[in-house]
Amino acid sequence: MEKETVKSIHKIAVLTSGGDAPGMNATIRSIVRAGIDSGLSVYGIEDGYRGLVEGRVYEMDRNAVTNIINRGGTILGSARLPEFSKDEVAQIAVEQLHNRGIEAVITIGGDGTYRGALKLTQMGINCVGVPGTIDNDIASTEFTIGFDTAVNTAVDAIDKLRDTSNSHQRCSIVEVMGRYCGDIAYAAALATGADLVITSETGFDLNEVIDTVKRCQGHKSRHVLIVITEHVTDVMELAKKIKEYTGFDARATILGHIQRGGSPSPFDRVLATRLGAEAARAILEGDFGCMVGTKNQEIIRVPLSEVAGKLKYVDPKASIIKEAKTIGISFGDE
Ligand code: F6P
Repeated sequence: MEKETVKSIHKIAVLTSGGDAPGMNATIRSIVRAGIDSGLSVYGIEDGYRGLVEGRVYEMDRNAVTNIINRGGTILGSARLPEFSKDEVAQIAVEQLHNRGIEAVITIGGDGTYRGALKLTQMGINCVGVPGTIDNDIASTEFTIGFDTAVNTAVDAIDKLRDTSNSHQRCSIVEVMGRYCGDIAYAAALATGADLVITSETGFDLNEVIDTVKRCQGHKSRHVLIVITEHVTDVMELAKKIKEYTGFDARATILGHIQRGGSPSPFDRVLATRLGAEAARAILEGDFGCMVGTKNQEIIRVPLSEVAGKLKYVDPKASIIKEAKTIGISFGDE
């Protein structure tokens, strides 16, 4: 049964924080439209918590979010503000909200954003979070907004690398983002038919890499494809070692911030629109201190205290890994 709407909230604000992600704009659009249609005044905060502390807050109308559902980045701007963990800094943010009569804030972002939202909640501000990060590392939700687009971008780049690797009989090492979560790497590796996946979860073993390259040589492969998450090892050095130990020429490519840009995929636009609308609904129902997410494709709400600071990692026993092993993709833990 639907919860009854609580009429006490009139003014809300929205911010995007941390690394931007494709689909943040679609989320903002959904929140602004759903909020205004429900009679709320909706304010945009520039550059995340930094803009909030500095008082860069302005009212948004329906037209402010026209033509952005397909745009990458975030029209509000984003920033990281580690100092927000300090009470005296967060207190300024609280005052900025009180001075404007803003009664609730919707925060879109990753883990740092939730820690900020939890801080504000503990200081008496009504907050609702929406998971927006390419890393897909937020606990308690299946997918974060931006992950699907980032995987598409990585797959597109890896397909191109495969062409040239195959022409030149090379090993291609592709470093993808994800911070300490291997989700982008696993999905991109499966989608491109990689030979080896190395992530923070699998750990790194040079012998495993060399064995994989030699095995591919044994199969007379014209190329070898290794997908690896950032922060695991120096991929440029790894390319040199592969050449040294196997004789197979190797090149490393760091995909980097290209994975954060671009027009959001339809999947991300749909997710963003659903989660944005649900965040506005949670505010109207007076359900604060939560993050909206999905479980089995259904919308859920999870307490911020169960999300903030609790990153998601890929379980080595996860089904995606079992399936990948079945078709011969190696993992750095073997
Ligand atoms: O959280 C998103 C992300 O792109 C991570 O994948 C990456 O580790 C980090 O942000 C990079 O941050 P920055 O844009 O500050 O270099």
